[in-house]
Amino acid sequence: MSYLDTTHDLYKEAALTPDVGLCCTTNPIWELPGLTIPTIMQEMNYGCGSTVHPRDLTNNPKILYVGVGGGMELLQFAYFSRQKAGVIGIDAVPEMLEASRKNFKEAEKQNPWFKSEFITLKKGDALNLPVEDNTIDVAAQNCLFNIFKAEDLKKAIAEMYRVLKPHGRLVMSDPVCEQPMNNTLRNDDRLRALCLSGSLPIKEYVKALTDAGFGTIEIRARKPYRILDPKHYPTDKLIYIESIEVAAIKDPMPADGPCVFTGKAAIYFGEDDYFDDKAGHVLFKNQPLAICDKTAELLAALERNDIFISESTFHYDGGGCC
Ligand SMILES: C[S@@+](CC[C@H](N)C(=O)[O-])C[C@H]1O[C@@H](n2cnc3c(N)ncnc32)[C@H](O)[C@@H]1O
Repeated sequence: MSYLDTTHDLYKEAALTPDVGLCCTTNPIWELPGLTIPTIMQEMNYGCGSTVHPRDLTNNPKILYVGVGGGMELLQFAYFSRQKAGVIGIDAVPEMLEASRKNFKEAEKQNPWFKSEFITLKKGDALNLPVEDNTIDVAAQNCLFNIFKAEDLKKAIAEMYRVLKPHGRLVMSDPVCEQPMNNTLRNDDRLRALCLSGSLPIKEYVKALTDAGFGTIEIRARKPYRILDPKHYPTDKLIYIESIEVAAIKDPMPADGPCVFTGKAAIYFGEDDYFDDKAGHVLFKNQPLAICDKTAELLAALERNDIFISESTFHYDGGGCC
């Protein structure tokens, strides 16, 4: 039995018997005017962050959500899109699709604006999406891709890239871990399926996205997630797992490499009104400009004593260079 079969069985069980503690998220539930999230959806919140960001959702985007869980984030996406078949939900586990279908019926009762027809549910695999090329504006997954081993992760990201329109965005939330994990943890199929032992360091996670061709990456949030301790898990060290929210945008790859925004900013504090690096970045005096890590390196290489470059906050929310 492969780890993918273990994953399938675990989420079949989680569909049939909701498991509140399965993927604890510290994210508050979205509270928006007129939006009521049914309790059953909250109990089946198996994600580790949010992939729903209003600024991704202008101009009636066509939305794809892979790994539906109890349907909570699909309902949140539908809140913004409000059109027949505006959101496509794909899951490999028929029982999970059935549970979310039932939950959407409950959501209809509690949300007068919502109709189940806003969401098209399809059985399908993240590794082979039943979706046409270049047809999606916003693709999302929450807490699924961290389960995949390297080759499958590559396939899953390539599939998302394939179905996105140019400049479309892949919005994701996943656990990440900066510490090495031993092979016992890595090869424990159940812990992997539980989103505990597949997580990568942020740099490797981002590299998997840029290797697939995404030219712009935004790290939008980084939060504490879980601890694997020697008493309860096969490890002799305490392992700290975080979760991140990331958007990968299908912009063309710049000739000098991807723009990865990790929340850095540059501030010019010299004698002039502004500093122009003649490479597309103008820093107005004492005003922060959000910069990608590549620009941060280029500005730092100038070794000026009138430009301050801040550390990554891992909380980038738009604007700035590139
Ligand atoms: C950790 S849960 C996350 C659910 C949901 N995204 C959320 O935030 O609550 C993983 C989801 O992916 C589904 N899944 C597992 N393997 C899959 C695959 N290969 N392709 C598509 N979906 C899959 C599971 O059935 C489950 O709904």
